[in-house]
Amino acid sequence: MGSPARPTGDRHIEVEDLVVRYGAVTAVDRISFDVRRGEHMTLLGPSGCGKTTTLRALAGLETPVSGEIRIDGRPVFSIRQSINVPAEQRQLPMVFQSYAIWPHMTVFDNVAYGLRLRRLPAVQVKERVGAALELVRLGGLAGRSAAELSGGQQQRVALARCLAVSPAVLLLDEPLSNLDARLRTAMRLEIQSLQRQIGLTSVYVTHDQEEALVISDRIIVMNAGRIEQVGTATEVYDTPRNAFVADFVGAANLIEGVVRPERRSDGLVAIETEGKHVVCGTDPGRPLGSSATVAVRSVYLELCPTPPRSSAMRSSTSSNGTAVCSRRAVHATRSSKKARRSM
Ligand SMILES: Nc1ncnc2c1ncn2[C@@H]1O[C@H](COP(=O)(O)OP(=O)(O)O)[C@@H](O)[C@H]1O
Ligand SMILES: [Mg+2]
Repeated sequence: MGSPARPTGDRHIEVEDLVVRYGAVTAVDRISFDVRRGEHMTLLGPSGCGKTTTLRALAGLETPVSGEIRIDGRPVFSIRQSINVPAEQRQLPMVFQSYAIWPHMTVFDNVAYGLRLRRLPAVQVKERVGAALELVRLGGLAGRSAAELSGGQQQRVALARCLAVSPAVLLLDEPLSNLDARLRTAMRLEIQSLQRQIGLTSVYVTHDQEEALVISDRIIVMNAGRIEQVGTATEVYDTPRNAFVADFVGAANLIEGVVRPERRSDGLVAIETEGKHVVCGTDPGRPLGSSATVAVRSVYLELCPTPPRSSAMRSSTSSNGTAVCSRRAVHATRSSKKARRSM
């Protein structure tokens, strides 16, 4: 990582056509994305979709079979240029679900580990450990044995160990999933404010859509080794690109039907269900096939005492071809403006 970086705008991490295989299993299947400087990016998806593998590939703990990873415009992995910078030189520390701290060491020694490895003078080690422990609010516990800490405190130690080396990028793999629900909620806000406070670029892995929606600047929704959608919480929630995203990111009612082009109006797509109801959804902005799926968020439904003017129910449609939607449920409901979406 010695040569100067080429300008990347505000893109801090760039991943291009990355493929990672374990034997016959393709865990990550040609994914491309970038993470902006100071951004909190979340990889979200069901178990086994390739989130951890992606993070490990960034850290240099897995060797991809193809693609490129650039940090600050400089390749740390490139199949084309035969580059594979070893993990310890990438300086991308990772917080694991399992904490991975040493129980036989004190809190201080755990946090000091990476600094001593870098052969920093003792005075600097003390200073940096102290600062990192203050950041995670463990200032008074430096001398305590790590084994005597609660789960939440142990995870703070793991976080402090990463922060002590002053990383430019922090990787976090489901760091809160071993904590109880209350602590999880508190700590995710803490991590978020810490990340903002020190302007860290972070890539955060979770399978918990609520967590992702709350803490992320942007979310990458993954499924079976691929990226389904990249966007802000609002974008993936309100304008899911397809039925998978609509369903995974917050529950959605998916209504399938046949596209009825002649009933299209107001920029809305109309579909007819098997039961002959017409449902309108916002236009997904791409061509639809003969069938489409409309996604309806019940959170946006409103009961209305009188039948709506139109008997149509508005929704969003996704494609194979599906479109995405908003809605006005037949006779019983009408939609708020927010309920109209397209995939
Ligand atoms: N060390 C490994 N050896 C073989 N297969 C693996 C290994 N690690 C992960 N996999 C497989 O790769 C796929 C993606 O796994 P992973 O990245 O851990 O998913 P996630 O973190 O999204 O749950 C899964 O099918 C998983 O079984
Ligand atoms: Mg995982």
